[in-house]
Amino acid sequence: MTNKMWGGRFQAGPDAIMEEINASIGFDRRLFLQDIAGSTAHVAMLAEQGIISKADANRIRRGLAAVQAEIEAGKFTFSRALEDIHLNVESRLKELIGPAAGRLHTARSRNDQVAVDFRLYVRDAIDHLDGQLKDLQRALAAKAQAHAATIMPGFTHLQVAQPVTFGHHCLAYVEMLARDRSRLVDARRRMNQSPLGAAALAGTSFPIDRHATARALGFDGPTRNSLDSVADRDFVLETLAAAAICATHLSRLAEEIVIWSTSQFGFVKLSDKFTTGSSIMPQKRNPDAAELVRAKPGRILGALTALLVVMKGLPLTYSKDMQEDKEPAFDAFDNLSLAIAATTGMVKDLTPNVETMRQAAAGGFSTATDLADWLVRTLKMPFRDAHHVTGSLVALAEKKGCGLPELSLAELRTVEKRITRDVYKVLTVEASVASRRSFGGTAPANVRREAKRWLKLLEA
Ligand code: ARG
Repeated sequence: MTNKMWGGRFQAGPDAIMEEINASIGFDRRLFLQDIAGSTAHVAMLAEQGIISKADANRIRRGLAAVQAEIEAGKFTFSRALEDIHLNVESRLKELIGPAAGRLHTARSRNDQVAVDFRLYVRDAIDHLDGQLKDLQRALAAKAQAHAATIMPGFTHLQVAQPVTFGHHCLAYVEMLARDRSRLVDARRRMNQSPLGAAALAGTSFPIDRHATARALGFDGPTRNSLDSVADRDFVLETLAAAAICATHLSRLAEEIVIWSTSQFGFVKLSDKFTTGSSIMPQKRNPDAAELVRAKPGRILGALTALLVVMKGLPLTYSKDMQEDKEPAFDAFDNLSLAIAATTGMVKDLTPNVETMRQAAAGGFSTATDLADWLVRTLKMPFRDAHHVTGSLVALAEKKGCGLPELSLAELRTVEKRITRDVYKVLTVEASVASRRSFGGTAPANVRREAKRWLKLLEA
């Protein structure tokens, strides 16, 4: 049997393999809400412009609502022979309302139809991800507020560098996620133009009103070039790029959670809800959720790469290659959403081991910079000289097997005789973090202020 939607010039139906490679209904059925919304806006405009009768438009509108209800109720039979969501919906519409259904596709093509459907879908996905990211930011800012003065080692090269506060560390991720959200919002703003009415590629001879359909679908206006309208997939690419960067951020936090929850570090305890046991080793508590979040950038960046490769070198305008845009994007958005949800759960539930963190922060001569700064401030030494003196004192402490605060005044004076007892004030980790009050610094006072600012911002 030839295709009943477009088989006019065909004598035979497709080969089974042709049907299999051609069909997208297996995955693009996800677009049914957007497809029906697009058709509803289109048909209202056609009637308004006198292109079809009001009576037909009403029949079509009611029919589309019935199709939507069937799909939502799980009573719709999707057919692979009908290729995609667009033809599945239209064919069922015809069964329900008869010949008037044939007027729906006036001044439209599947090329602008799929472009509008997918834009609407990606726009919804962005709004959903943005809301989830906001929840995660809130969870992190709340942890930051609770742990504004909890001291941990700050690392560079994964070597203890300087003491920082756990709250400050949490707020670093709040900043990253803020950039992720602004990238998504930015992509949304740029994509929010309606390709509907570009028709196959050249526009149409019917007196359509593209501004009206754009408005009805919540777009800022219609796209300005019909060729670009059906050929463009930037809106998916940009969103996937933002998603890949976001997934990368989540993977860094996930990796830190993995490291922190090892028995060697022991910085945090993950809740039972976000750990798994081992089938053989009864003592194990594995951070599987964190490991999976760490792994997600693989498929999300993979989706971006896949679509960039599909689009590369495609001549204008639409080619069926572009049907390959959907599966990777669906997979990427689903998995990013899952990763955000899992991260939010872990963050809410994890408990920092305050004492273990503090002890680790005091190790590794982490207040050496504070000592050097004291020499600069009190003895007016140039920083480079102070760096050198401090280096010698660190070597001395290392030889003695103690920390900087445990060196006696006499020992300190063997390297720099002008050092006074006053220096001990700056050698504790508490003094170190409290002194880092520069804008954006780790001092508990700063962290409290920033956490409060974020929580207020995120309320709105
Ligand atoms: N299923 C198609 C897609 O996702 C819809 C557009 C089909 N257009 C066409 N000219 N065959 O790209």
